[in-house]
This record gives sequence, C-alpha cells and structure tokens, in this order.
Amino acid sequence: MLIINGTIVTSEKTFKSDILIENGKITKIAENISIPNEKIIDAEGKYIIPGGIDAHVHMDLPSHTGKSSDSFLTGSKAALAGGTTTIIDFVTPEKGESYIVALEKRKAEAKTCLCNYAFHMSPTWFGENTENEIHQCIEKENIHSFKVYLAYKKAVGIEDDVLLKVMKAVAKQNSLLTLHCEMGDEIDELRAKFISEGKTQPKYHPLSRPNHTESEAVEKAIRMAKETNCGIYIVHVSTKESVDLIRKAQQTGQKVFAETCPQYLLLDDSVYDQEFELSAKFVLSPPIRKKADQIALWNGLKNGTIQTLATDHCPFHLHGQKDVGRNDFTKIPNGAGGVEHRMSLFFTYGVLQNKITINQFVDICSTKPAEIFKLKNKGQIKEGFDADIVIWNAKKESIISAKTHKQNCDSNIFEGFKTIGFAETVILNGKKCEYL
Ligand code: URP
Ligand code: ZN
Ligand code: ZN
Repeated sequence: MLIINGTIVTSEKTFKSDILIENGKITKIAENISIPNEKIIDAEGKYIIPGGIDAHVHMDLPSHTGKSSDSFLTGSKAALAGGTTTIIDFVTPEKGESYIVALEKRKAEAKTCLCNYAFHMSPTWFGENTENEIHQCIEKENIHSFKVYLAYKKAVGIEDDVLLKVMKAVAKQNSLLTLHCEMGDEIDELRAKFISEGKTQPKYHPLSRPNHTESEAVEKAIRMAKETNCGIYIVHVSTKESVDLIRKAQQTGQKVFAETCPQYLLLDDSVYDQEFELSAKFVLSPPIRKKADQIALWNGLKNGTIQTLATDHCPFHLHGQKDVGRNDFTKIPNGAGGVEHRMSLFFTYGVLQNKITINQFVDICSTKPAEIFKLKNKGQIKEGFDADIVIWNAKKESIISAKTHKQNCDSNIFEGFKTIGFAETVILNGKKCEYL
C-alpha cells in the first residue's frame, strides 16, 4: 500500500511525504515514491498520524450490574472508529488467584478484540509466588506495567502493606507501577455518611471524593515510590493539587509519569446538578472536578508534566445498570465511555484551541504511551515501525451523540459536544479497516 500526498505528523515535526507499507510495516518514507501495482491512497490535504494508543480501558469489566456495556468486540470497534489502533486493558486476579491463571482467562475474553491490545497486570494481593509471577509477566508475557487501586477497598483495592511489597517487587524488576490514587478508606466513610443522612443522589458522588482524597493518595504514592525506588505512572489525574505534586517530584528527578482523560479536561462538576437520568452517567471515579482543575490539567499536558491522554473507557448503560443506584449513588457502577472520541475531542479542544500543538497531540495520544509501556514498533510514523496509521481529516465536523456512536452504551458523557477532526481512514497492521 502506498499513501501519497499526505502531511505526516510526528512528535517533533510536520512534513509532506509518501509512505510505503509492506507486510504490515512502514518500509519507506520519502517524497514521490512510485511503485507500480501498489494500492494507492491519496491523502492530499490530510494529516497522517500514528494510530492512537489508549493506555487505559476496561472492556468487559465485571460489576454488580453485569459487565461494562462494551465488550472487547464492541469497544475495539469504537476505538478503531475514533482512530485508536491499540488499547491497553487490565488483568485483575481475584484475591488469592494466580496472576498467570487470571491472565490466561483474560486472554480468552480478549480474543474478539479487533484492534491491537496489551495488558497491565493488577496486583490485588501478594503471596509467596507473586514476585516470580511478576517476573514471568515481564519476561514471558510482554506485560510491562502493574496497576494497583488505592480506592475500592471492598473489591480490588489494596492496603499499604501490599502496596509496599508490590512496589519493591516491581522496582526490583525495573518495571513500572501504575496507580489509581484515591484514599479508599476516607472515601468509604464519606459515602456511608452521606447515605446514612439520606443524601443519595449522584451529586453526592463528587462530594464523597473531594480533591484532597486524590492528592493525598498521590502524595503517598510518590513518597513510597521514592523510598522503594519504583517508577510510577498515575492514572486518570483529575486535580490541580495532584498536578503540582507530580511536577515537584519530576523536578527532583523521580520517575513519575501521569495520565489524564478527556472527561477531566472538558467537563466540570456542574454536570451533577441535574436530575438522576442526566447526572448518573457522570458517576465515575475520580469524579468530574472544577474549572480550575481543568486549567491545571491542560497546563500539565502543555508543559509535559502529564505525558498521556487515556480514557478509562468503562461505559455502563443508564437503563439496567446505572439506574440500579437510583436511590443510592454508591450503587451506581462507576465509569463512562471515551475511547471513540478521545482523539477528536483532544484535536478539537486542544489543537484547534491552541492549548497544545499538533505534534503534542501525536506525542500524547500515541508516541508517549508506546514508549512508557514498551509497545515495540508502535506509536510513530517511522520506517520499520508497524503500519498502524490514521489519515486524519482535520476539517470534518461532527456532533457526539449516543444515537450515532459506535460504542455499546445508551448514553454518552460527551453528548452534544461538537468535534472538528475525524479518523477518515484507519490502517491497522498494514490493512485498511474497511468495515468502519
Ligand atoms: O469510574 C471508573 N473510573 N471506573 C473504572 C475503574 C477505574 O477506576 O479505573
Ligand atoms: Zn481508576
Ligand atoms: Zn480505570
């Protein structure tokens, strides 16, 4: 396949060139490539960018209301439609279960995935064989990150003694620990207090998880990572206080990466001041914050404190799932979809509003997640790299709606958002995705 006349965008530069693709790889980037009998795509007037990498998604996530509404099949379709060609999901062993056994089960679930995928392993417990299993994940299973939850104490969340053991084991293997940073115990107390006072509506969800419950957990994670010499990546950073702490740690030379998500950049906590039908879809954790937090997150992306934009894609239907918590917000399954619109939202509200450059767009959406999570030959338009390529139409306008989105969910937290920019052609491992 030959792509001609397009404008290639990398982390560093923007330039016109042709691209030759052979056997799933980018084999040549040069001007005026002419090879007879190649399938030619004319990308005149379009950007050519590496396929998006969403480093934080939950397909088929179990909950008390059934699995999250996007399976690997429907969720990967939504990802590809939005220009994301690789997702990183999670393996979450039951407490006491072998990590490797859990991984095999998860691989079976992911068989229907249409795009490229990788896993983070989520230590939920630490036993005698765990260090060996962590080693095995890295050496044999191509897993290069481990993710712990400091919230959800009654389910997958861990206590500090386990966190310390995990950090030491991960540091010993020179790997990376990713963390959901929220102070689980304090949040559980606040949730119980609100419910006992009859404060049951979704608007109490953000009040039960105030900013300091994230930033104190970030502070703890940074301190313990320093003590154990463990590299860390903090997922879905949502507060200005956390951004400050992360920047300060980075300035001392500590290996701390950070991720944020479109919902924290584009929505504010007024979304909770609505009736249940409209506010329940915003029950996700950490919750949607204030305008001042949005500004700090955009600045963090611009100045490099935050390296990646992921989505934490984890949709639940309003009807039949979220509405289980109609009379008790703590029963609403946490999460929302995002994988489909991450890139068009970031392009529209980031690049087109001059908050980031187009090169930062590529860096944050593809190149950095590939580097941080060791996705070999991915995340760049470069000779020898995998041909995961998006031809980006920077002019196409759309309006996000649950009526037209590809993801399997009866609602969308970005309903009504206007986007400019669209993944017009998606090439996955050298082949055009025809069904999109
Ligand atoms: O509310 C959320 N974010 N649900 C998905 C699980 C998580 O915390 O990442
Ligand atoms: Zn999380
Ligand atoms: Zn998540």
